[in-house]
Amino acid sequence: MFGVTTESETTPRSFLFLLGSARKDGNTELLARQAASRLPGDVEQRWLHLADLRLNPFPDLRHVGDGVAYPQPTGNERTLLDATLGATDLVIASPLYWYSVSADTKLYLDHWSAWMRVPGIDFKARMRGRTLWGVAALAGQDHQTADPLAGTLRRCADYLGMRWGGVLMGTGSEPGQVLGDASALERADTFFDASRTPVTSAAAR
Ligand SMILES: Cc1cc2nc3c(=O)[nH]c(=O)nc-3n(C[C@H](O)[C@H](O)[C@H](O)COP(=O)(O)O)c2cc1C
Repeated sequence: MFGVTTESETTPRSFLFLLGSARKDGNTELLARQAASRLPGDVEQRWLHLADLRLNPFPDLRHVGDGVAYPQPTGNERTLLDATLGATDLVIASPLYWYSVSADTKLYLDHWSAWMRVPGIDFKARMRGRTLWGVAALAGQDHQTADPLAGTLRRCADYLGMRWGGVLMGTGSEPGQVLGDASALERADTFFDASRTPVTSAAAR
């Protein structure tokens, strides 16, 4: 069985891949596509490149007025919000930039803070029980240098009550080089296997 078990039914998983690189067809995307190729055919996949969906700078309005100053998202922000809420599994595919996630990825995560406060969206409660995964390419061989990236994503998952799927990492600098990282490709082949364990959650609602 490969799905999300709710009280009364099993709903197929749907994966949203958010690509955070500052270039197209890079190593992070290649590694993510390798992992995604092992997902069963009935698992929906949606791929969005954050560079195609520019977000405005994040305004901190948390303490303005009565604390619900964030407007309803529109445009690209709405697209990303709806895509996020529409997925049971969220895959943040960000290259390692200065030991952490890319700026586009970080800006997307910052907008979560707004979405938690937009009246009627109930973002935090609705994200509970979904699964957050990470995929990252880096130029170096030492994956421990990506601890800040992994820690950021894992703690974001914890904060929203999401399940944590882990981070798939691979080494490459020029586009395509990650395909020469045999151990990364091997890990990619089974990376999403953990999602085969059904979970009881509200994620499919
Ligand atoms: C702004 C920037 C910062 C980077 N910082 C790191 C780093 O901290 N550690 C590292 O190993 N590689 C670093 N790199 C190299 C990239 O992680 C590497 O080229 C990766 O393959 C890029 O992924 P992409 O092909 O998906 O864009 C950096 C690259 C850029 C452009």
